[in-house]
This record gives sequence, structure tokens and C-alpha cells, in this order.
Amino acid sequence: MARRPRESADQPPQLPGLFAAPTIRDFEPPRGQLLKWIGSKQRFASQICATFPADVRCYYEPFVGSASVCAAFAPTRGVASDVLRPLVTLWRTLCQDPATLCGWYAERWHRLLQGDKVANYLEMRAEYNRTRDPADLLLLVRACYGGVVRFAKDGSMNTPCGVHRPIQPQEFARRAEAWRSRLQGVRFEHSDFEAMVDAAGPGDLVYCDPPYADSQNALYGAQAFSLDRLLAAIDRAKVRGARVALSIDGTKRSGRKVCDVPMPAGLFVTDRQVVVGRSMLRRFQLGGQTLEHEVVADRLLLTWQA
Ligand SMILES: C[S@@+](CC[C@H](N)C(=O)[O-])C[C@H]1O[C@@H](n2cnc3c(N)ncnc32)[C@H](O)[C@@H]1O
Repeated sequence: MARRPRESADQPPQLPGLFAAPTIRDFEPPRGQLLKWIGSKQRFASQICATFPADVRCYYEPFVGSASVCAAFAPTRGVASDVLRPLVTLWRTLCQDPATLCGWYAERWHRLLQGDKVANYLEMRAEYNRTRDPADLLLLVRACYGGVVRFAKDGSMNTPCGVHRPIQPQEFARRAEAWRSRLQGVRFEHSDFEAMVDAAGPGDLVYCDPPYADSQNALYGAQAFSLDRLLAAIDRAKVRGARVALSIDGTKRSGRKVCDVPMPAGLFVTDRQVVVGRSMLRRFQLGGQTLEHEVVADRLLLTWQA
């Protein structure tokens, strides 16, 4: 069962068994991201969730990243996964032992700000690249330049230090509590996407937000993502009776460059545009310039009629 949309004071309560069509307002993600993540859907998560059906048996999110859509949807039963093991450990620790997660953040936050911040950051980054300690990754994602959490092919994190001061431990703890309460029904798994999509059955919903087909392939490290492999898995899931939603590149540069990814005929029956704003990645690549024309829109493809 999916979480029932919240009732607000100005709406009459729904009778049991009757569900109004979900609205954007029903799916507010927690205020403030817990983890910064490249490609995070935090700002559009409610738009995306508003397209989801109300009668979801189990929710699957196989490219969970910063869990923004998962936390906005807040399923009563869900499985979220990612191929990046330290990231999955952070989410599991949040759910099972939030005090430890907050302790990791507080300890590294103090260490970062004691003395030379950039040197401390680089030392923590080198430590993460040696050991893949999730506690180091936690501080790095909050402290890195522009929140552009970028990995090299060998899986090492290579974003420079940001100019900002990362959020205080008290604020992190507040957010941790808010995120944990939205993710109570979710189990986090370390997995390649295919096994997760293959686990979905009749009545289930799978939301896929893979690395952007034309620009993000290299950013998450040497991970075996292939769009063809994903499309084949979606096709199998649809045949089994699962519903699948796929976010994918839409248009870029105010429509001057169109990144249209061809899709197999008949696989998706609804095609929506989600305008996601200006590209942080391009801003980062161009040394912090503001890109007035760099408007990015995602396509949201659904295997059902919405
Ligand atoms: C675009 S991001 C997802 C962003 C997420 N929706 C959010 O709001 O933060 C894509 C994610 O896919 C993960 N990924 C890349 N290759 C993968 C694979 N083969 N299997 C599972 N996850 C993969 C990356 O680690 C990354 O977290």
C-alpha cells in the first residue's frame, strides 16, 4: 500500500477506500536536503510523485541517490537501492542508528573547520578515496563545491572543496530526524538496478532515475549502467504487471540542443516534461558562470496512462 495522501485543514477528510487524485502538495519532501547529490530531484520530487498511482503495493527505487523522490513519496512499503555501497550505508545508518549518523557528521564537521578548511577537506577526501568510509563521504557531500558530488572512473571522489560552510551539526540532526520519519517504510539495498527492477511484480511501482544518458555516465564512477539493459528490465517488469516511471534527459539549452533518447515503441504510454531549471553541472564545468540559457527539462515516461 502506498502512503495515503495527507489531509489538510481546508480539505474534508477522505472516506475510507476513496482516494482523491494525488496533488503536488500531498508530496512535500522534507525541508532541506540531507545529502547533496548530483542529479538530485529534491526540487521536483513532488511534481514527480503527483504522477504516481495511489494504489501502490510496493515502491521500488533502484537509483536512489539522495532519496529525494523516495522521501517525498514516503511509501509505507518500499525498497530503495543504489550501486554505490557507501551511500547505501549512509541511508541504512540513518534508518537503523540515526545517532551514529549524526555523530559521524558532527565529528567530521568539527575536524573540517579546525584550522585550514581546504587542507582538511582534501585530507578527508584522500581518506575516503583510500578507505571508502561512508562517514567521510557524508561530510564530503555537504562540503564539496556546489554540491556537485562527482566520482572518477575508479570510484574516487574528485570534487574540490566548496566555499560555503556546511550546515551545523544541530541542523543536520534536525534534517536527519525529518528524513528518517519519511523513510520508515523503506529498506535500503546495495544493488545494481537490474535485480531490483526484476523484483517488482503486479501492483508495484518502480521509479527509475538513472545517470543522465548523455552527460552523467562518468560522474558516478565506473558503474555498469546501460540504458538498453534498463529498458529491457522495464519491459519485463511491465509484462509482469508492475508500473514503471522513468526520468530521463529531456531538452537542454532552452531547446536549442535536444537530447531526445529514442524509446522502444509501446513501452511507455505517458510522456511528461518536468522543467528542472538551470544545470548545476554545466555551471561547475564552466567555472561558476551563470548560464542563463542552460535550461534543463527532464522527461518523465510512464508505462501506464496518467
Ligand atoms: C541521477 S542519480 C539519482 C538521483 C536521485 N533521484 C536523487 O534525487 O538524488 C543516479 C544514481 O544511480 C546510481 N547508479 C549508477 N549506476 C547504477 C547501477 N548500475 N545500478 C544502480 N544504481 C546506479 C548512481 O550511484 C546515482 O546515485
